[in-house]
Amino acid sequence: MIYLLILSGILLYISGGARVNTLKLNIAVKSGSSGIIPCVYDKQHKENRKYLCLGGIWSSCRILAYAGETGKFSITDYPDQSIFTVRWEKLEISDSGYYWCAVEIGGYGTVDAGYDLYLTVQSAPDVSVKSSSVFGHEGDNVSVQCFYTSGYKYKLKQWCRYKDKGCYTEKRTGTSQNPSVQIRDDGRSSFTVLMTGLRLSDSGWYLCSVGDLQAPVQLTVNEPKPVTHIPTTTPSDPETDK
Ligand SMILES: *[C@@H]1O[C@H](CO)[C@@H](O)[C@H](O)[C@H]1NC(C)=O
Repeated sequence: MIYLLILSGILLYISGGARVNTLKLNIAVKSGSSGIIPCVYDKQHKENRKYLCLGGIWSSCRILAYAGETGKFSITDYPDQSIFTVRWEKLEISDSGYYWCAVEIGGYGTVDAGYDLYLTVQSAPDVSVKSSSVFGHEGDNVSVQCFYTSGYKYKLKQWCRYKDKGCYTEKRTGTSQNPSVQIRDDGRSSFTVLMTGLRLSDSGWYLCSVGDLQAPVQLTVNEPKPVTHIPTTTPSDPETDK
């Protein structure tokens, strides 16, 4: 495992892409609004039951919802992506706390698998995005605008892939970074991430990260638009359109 981490670190370094860092998940959530977060799990747990658990301590957390259930939290499993999503209609500021993305391992005396993340519920989140879903076609460019409040102006701005927590930062002179991701900070209230030449494999969940807070964004890359033949029509004859 350590070998794999080192190897992937070297590969990322060589490709000049994202650098691996340890991002502590702390998701900024707007109170009274709907929201969604992804949870990733190991491929081998595809068939296992997924759930969301509340509390600072894993062994004593309180199960809030299982996959397939709808309530305050609705959980949907996407086994082919090794991801489940947790969706809510509204959270209160008092719902801030540690939550666990969990997988039931089953069997007597076995410990379930899971990891924690913090939800910071705020009436005006310090980090936010206009829309948590972005769509593009293969080969296209997409841009995502990430907003931050004045207190976060001088914090590190990053764009991270949720699955491996690989992050891109604003390009500084002297550092080589994958040019297919460009970050521009306006220095006041937002930074814009431009992803160029989208590939199908870019699909997935990302995080706008500012300092210690993040806002999730789901990117869906579709097959390239079919090249359509645009017929030359004469306005007097609409039938040629057909
Ligand atoms: C995508 O962005 C790159 C770099 O900014 C630009 O050169 C290219 O023309 C853009 N492509 C499209 C399809 O907009």
